[in-house]
Parts: sequence; structure tokens; C-alpha cells
Amino acid sequence: MAYETIKAEPRGRVGLITLNRPKAMNALSQLMMREICQAAADFDGDAKIGAIVLTGSEKAFAAGADVKEMEKLGYSEAYLADLWRGWDRLTEVRKPLIAAVSGYALGGGCEVAAMCDIVIAAENAKFGQPEITLGILPGMGGTQRLARSIGKAKTMDLVLTGRLMDAAEAESCGLVSRVVPTADLLEDALKIGEKIADFSLPAVMSAKESVLQAFETPLDAGLKYERRLFHATFATDDQSEGMAAFVQKRSPQFKNR
Ligand code: CAA
Repeated sequence: MAYETIKAEPRGRVGLITLNRPKAMNALSQLMMREICQAAADFDGDAKIGAIVLTGSEKAFAAGADVKEMEKLGYSEAYLADLWRGWDRLTEVRKPLIAAVSGYALGGGCEVAAMCDIVIAAENAKFGQPEITLGILPGMGGTQRLARSIGKAKTMDLVLTGRLMDAAEAESCGLVSRVVPTADLLEDALKIGEKIADFSLPAVMSAKESVLQAFETPLDAGLKYERRLFHATFATDDQSEGMAAFVQKRSPQFKNR
């Protein structure tokens, strides 16, 4: 499918989505939101794909929602369009989403990274929620997802001051799981995607679903949810194969991947 604001292509068993508005620092226009979500949904439904990588350019993952597009909006337009509800489609993707972040991930860019399951940062990455400098607040989940993942103190600091944090700080507070040399970012993210795509897809997707459940339910309900999914894996061929391969000291040949 041809897109205007992104590129989407399979790289082996990984679906690669590259944000492609270089003149606008990959600002997230409404069209780009729709295209990212469509590409991600297509990869999610593609049996040959086991994981999805979302990336930008070396300079910018995404410098936020498109301010030029929003500048003239009034309350009624924003409310009627239900900005930014369209991103819910990205959070409905069931396969693992890996954000490979180089350069600026600001405002909506930081929030889209936080919607992903794994965030890999290049050494030059910079994260922030500068909406306060524009007279607004984060609107793609920044006050909610960040508070849950990096805690109240850091979230308040970023959201209320608009300051940027570098890759090392983002890793130390838990927004980012790995920091890699800038030149290696895409290759490393694709390798992580390939590794995940090699495992049993039902196990991978259930694991993602179970971890995300931790943000929605109290601990006792979450533990029960996890146990049911765990029990369900024993109904799969891949559980039999994975355990037999371990016992027989060979590599597993998972059917569902
Ligand atoms: N929206 C629209 N255009 C943007 C943009 C954005 N978020 N970020 C950058 N651009 C455009 C600039 O206007 C500029 O365009 P022109 O060449 O036509 O002037 C071009 O990209 C290059 O940007 P700069 O010249 O500013 O580049 P720089 O290297 O000097 O600075 C930057 C880079 C620090 C990222 C700076 O561009 C910047 O601060 N951008 C805005 C960041 C921001 O405020 N993001 C939050 C947006 S609101 C939001 O995201 C709300 C939400 O929660 C959904």
C-alpha cells in the first residue's frame, strides 16, 4: 500500500514502519496517525510478520503532533474530531511493537514511543513533553502512560517544565529498555524483532496481553488473568514442541510463528 507520510515494508518477519516527513521533523499530522495505525494493523493481520518496528530519522523520531495543523483549531473542532482518539488503533495491535528512537521524541512523539511495548533509544535520543510551552498539555496519553511507566516525580517534572531528557536518563527511569549507538539503532531493533518473531506467536501475543493487563487491573485480578493465559499455552503445539526440544537438547521448531 502506498503512503504519503510513512514507509511500510516487511524486513524478514519484522514489519518496519518509518515515519517520513523529514521537513517537519516527523511531526504527527492526522494523516500520519491514520497511516501509522493502518500499516500497524496490516502487519498485525499478516501471518508472516511476528513483530513491528516503528522508527523515524536519525534527527527525529517525531517532534510531536503537528502544531501547524493544530494552530487554528478551536475547541469544537478538537472535540468533534476527538483528537487523538485515532491512536487507540495502535494500542489495539496485538503483536509486539518496538519503538526505535533516534533524535527528538517530543510531545506526541514521546507518547507514541510510550504506546509501544519496547523502546530502544539511540545515544542521541531526546525525550520530552513540551506541550506546556504551547499553552496545552499532553493529549496522547503523556500524563497517563508516563505516570504509570516512569512514575509521578519524573512525569510531573517533564510535563510541568517541558524540559527534555537524554537517552541515559530515559533508560534510568524506565521509559527506555536499551540505549545503543546511534548508527546501530535500526539494525538492533530489527534483530530484537526477529528474535521475538522466532518464538511461538500465541505465546508472544499472550505474554504482551498479560503484561498490559498489569496496567488495567488490581494485582489479584492480574495474577488470575496471567494464570489463565499460562494454562492456555498448554493447549498449544508450541508448548509441547518447546518443552520437548528443551528435554531433547535441540532447537524448537515452533509451528505458530
Ligand atoms: N509541528 C509542526 N512542525 C514542526 C514540529 C511540530 N511539532 N516540530 C518541528 N516542526 C517543523 C518546524 O516548524 C520547521 O519547519 P520550517 O522549516 O517550515 O520552519 C522544521 O520542522 C524544522 O524544525 P526547527 O527549525 O525548529 O528545527 P530545530 O532543529 O531548530 O528544532 C525541535 C527541533 C527542538 C524539535 C523544534 O522543532 C521543536 O521544538 N519542535 C516542536 C516540539 C513540540 O512542541 N512538540 C509538541 C507538539 S504538541 C503535541 O505533541 C500535543 C500532543 O500531546 C498530542
